[in-house]
Amino acid sequence: MTARACANIALVKYWGKRDALLNLPAEGSLSLSLAGLLTETTVQFVEGLAADELILDGVTAKTGEAGRVSEFLDIVRSLSGVQINARVTSRNSFPTASGLASSASGFAALALAATQAAGLELDGKALSRLARRGSGSAARSIFGGFVRMYAGIRDEDAYAEPLASPLVDSVRMVVAVIGGGAPKSHGSRDAMDHTAATSPLYRGWLDTVPKDLATAEAALAAGDLEKLGTLAEANAFAMHASAIAARPSVMYWRPATLAVIAEIQGLRACGMAAWCTMDAGPHVKVLTTEADAPTIAMRLRDLEGVTAVTITGAGPAAIAVDPTDIVTLPPPPAAE
Ligand code: PMV
Repeated sequence: MTARACANIALVKYWGKRDALLNLPAEGSLSLSLAGLLTETTVQFVEGLAADELILDGVTAKTGEAGRVSEFLDIVRSLSGVQINARVTSRNSFPTASGLASSASGFAALALAATQAAGLELDGKALSRLARRGSGSAARSIFGGFVRMYAGIRDEDAYAEPLASPLVDSVRMVVAVIGGGAPKSHGSRDAMDHTAATSPLYRGWLDTVPKDLATAEAALAAGDLEKLGTLAEANAFAMHASAIAARPSVMYWRPATLAVIAEIQGLRACGMAAWCTMDAGPHVKVLTTEADAPTIAMRLRDLEGVTAVTITGAGPAAIAVDPTDIVTLPPPPAAE
């Protein structure tokens, strides 16, 4: 079975867990699924396969990457009763493991393809909970458009659901890739645990999230992009501040990250709708409008250290794909 899912970028970040085994987030989060950042994954359970196999962007994966997928497949095997190993083939339309949310689209597509291959029919909520076990942000990639993740109290209530907003058709993200999409320095999983364990600012970060979620939801309901963007930028800075203050520091930013932030602040001062957000990598994603996106993309392309810039809009929910209808994903931007 083959499934396709979009990556998502959080506007209110998930950064910290309260339960590592069930991958329960410490707080909720809120994101936008993006049409231009896609993962397509095929899962086949194959008789006689000695171990699970993972082929990622045409290359057989190393044990570490395959191990995470295998652990996830164990959950699907225990839910379905299927006992045999699987061959997983996955392709991204963007650089893998670079802070461009490949684990979100990756585990969302895997959750859908693997459950269907195992003969399970899960609804959106159950799929979201399952995808969460692979990666917290993947729970959100089951749905399209704006998505709200609930921290919940137990496993059963830690899932995502879509949020309606009049902004969904006109919103754009300008994605500025910095440093050619090289693998990130600290995986988000370890970095958020390290921040929670050592950063004196972590408590302050967690206290910020519920208020930010309420503000973001109100902005979405009212169709107020300026309110949403202002909040998203402030929330990203708060998350990164907590990580930077960890001991030793988790610093994802490079000089070009700051150059993009300064450029966006300058464009905003000239009246443009543009707000920054950054995840577990140096890249900057700019929340903007359909009208302002081309100018922003043009300005960011000229900055030193920015190696690729793409404009994308809101993407759809994860879907099963007929194997005869598999799209050829565009190649990822070339590394430096
Ligand atoms: O889903 P994970 O474990 O890759 O963590 C995602 C962390 C951030 O991308 C930094 C924030 C988020 O909410 O997506």
